[in-house]
Amino acid sequence: MKILILHGPNLNFLGKREPGIYGSTTLEEINNSLQVLAQDLKAEVDFFQSNHEGALIDKLQSAHSLVDAVVFNPGAYTHYSLALRDAVASMQVPVIEVHLSNIHAREEFRHQSVIAPVAAGQITGFGPASYLLGLRAAVTLVQSGRK
Ligand code: DQA
Repeated sequence: MKILILHGPNLNFLGKREPGIYGSTTLEEINNSLQVLAQDLKAEVDFFQSNHEGALIDKLQSAHSLVDAVVFNPGAYTHYSLALRDAVASMQVPVIEVHLSNIHAREEFRHQSVIAPVAAGQITGFGPASYLLGLRAAVTLVQSGRK
């Protein structure tokens, strides 16, 4: 089973970025813990981060027939990128939306996700554990054959 872990804008800055909100764990540390969990779950993970909307769309399109699920933190694009929403909607495999912070408990503009209606589900507010829960959700969905 192959799972793409996709990180959107500014997530390469985790550790340095607003630590009061996002904590001190770096993206590399998050990816390492995902790798360890993936081994336990007998899944293969591929990682990609970009600060560019088009690069994220290109990655989703190229993963289209190669992966069984996607765990995706779209960063601020969550709240307004209809292009990314369309790319997620075109995926034939489950896409799990994850956020470190609880977007519903923050500024009003973060309460809306344009991705959520086309995602399999949303995991938000558990810090780096959101990604681990997202990976578990992805594996569970793939095993049960659900999109
Ligand atoms: C985020 C939440 C977004 O609102 C924000 O723009 C981010 C990170 C999160 O993981 O909590 O960049 O997706």
